[in-house]
Amino acid sequence: MTLHFPNMAEPAGRTLGDEEVAALERVIRSGMLNSVWGTEARALEHEIAELYGSRHAIACSSGTAALHLSVVAAAPDPGDEIITTPITDFGTVAPILAQNAVPVFADVDPSDGNLDPGAVAALIGPRTRAIMVVHLFGAPARIGELRRLADLHGLTLIEDCAQAWLTELPGGRFAGTAGHVGTLSLQQWKHITCGDGGLTITDDDELARRMRLFTDKGWDRAAGRSHESPGLNYRMTELQAAVARAQLAKLPGVVASRRRTAAELIEVLRPLEGPALRLPRADGHAWWLFPLVLPGGDAPELAAHLSAAGIPARAGYLKEPLNRAPLWGRPVYGSSRYPLEHYDPAPCPEAERMVSSTLLIIDWNEHYTSEHVKIIADAVASRPERASSRD
Ligand SMILES: Cc1ncc(COP(=O)(O)O)c(C=O)c1O
Repeated sequence: MTLHFPNMAEPAGRTLGDEEVAALERVIRSGMLNSVWGTEARALEHEIAELYGSRHAIACSSGTAALHLSVVAAAPDPGDEIITTPITDFGTVAPILAQNAVPVFADVDPSDGNLDPGAVAALIGPRTRAIMVVHLFGAPARIGELRRLADLHGLTLIEDCAQAWLTELPGGRFAGTAGHVGTLSLQQWKHITCGDGGLTITDDDELARRMRLFTDKGWDRAAGRSHESPGLNYRMTELQAAVARAQLAKLPGVVASRRRTAAELIEVLRPLEGPALRLPRADGHAWWLFPLVLPGGDAPELAAHLSAAGIPARAGYLKEPLNRAPLWGRPVYGSSRYPLEHYDPAPCPEAERMVSSTLLIIDWNEHYTSEHVKIIADAVASRPERASSRD
């Protein structure tokens, strides 16, 4: 019998249980499902702020909404540039377009797919307003170098931690606390979930004020029915917040379990490491996914080999890196291409190579056991000849 690999779309691959059911019942019986008048979203914000040691946490409807809030906080003028990574979910980039700013894609470090600070530095120009860094798959990006760049050039540094709950930076701080704003996602496929949901964290009172206002239609509730700035309705519901709070209590266990089995896999794969197979660095990693890099370009072959063994593995993560997405060159709003009239994202050769041929990802889960690890390790060890002959 083949061993089932639990995934985040089924009960066996989640930590949803009686606590979440009780949380939902509590909210429903209270009669108040909206967070403007309820207590759950505010309590969630308090708990997140405490966990991350940040002055402010702002709950919202999705990770994409959280990133939109962070761009609003950075306050680009229309046409200003925001430097980001081509290997990420489109939720990182969509908010840049929503604020009429221009995404500038910097190439990545081929060892982990995270932004290469050297590539970022080369793209900083007079219109650069912010850097949006993603801690890809849960691996800490080179945030110290990016923060220094941001400070040197007066830029806002935004950390997208959608995949990086409790990712640790050198020195032990959590990812999300080294930039000006950090963002989190509670979408179905994340470490913890309430279906959809997001949060921003910041120590900056003014950035927090802008984000909170934008979350609620620019409405300062303390000031009466009056709107001092534009905004949308990005509010989290009490139902989402109550489930998120129950999930948050389980987060340390989720990450610890993922770290334990990922460390086991690294240990058993260590003898196979060489020029043809690069293992991820475990330091601080939160293991949203488990990535492998095959510099010889045979990630698609290994992915097919692992899939045939029943292991949830895929090559590339994306169909194409976002600098190559089909939408560039098409109208942004209606028939208008503004502010992308002459837009042609520069090549990102490392990102393009990773997505097309060298990056392999294995779905990871807190319910994996040493048996799952062994099956993966055996399958990698028995990989096709073309891969192993390159060692
Ligand atoms: C890196 C990254 N950024 C942003 C998002 C967008 O988050 P959401 O789906 O909650 O809008 C996701 C995932 O969905 C993500 O993985």
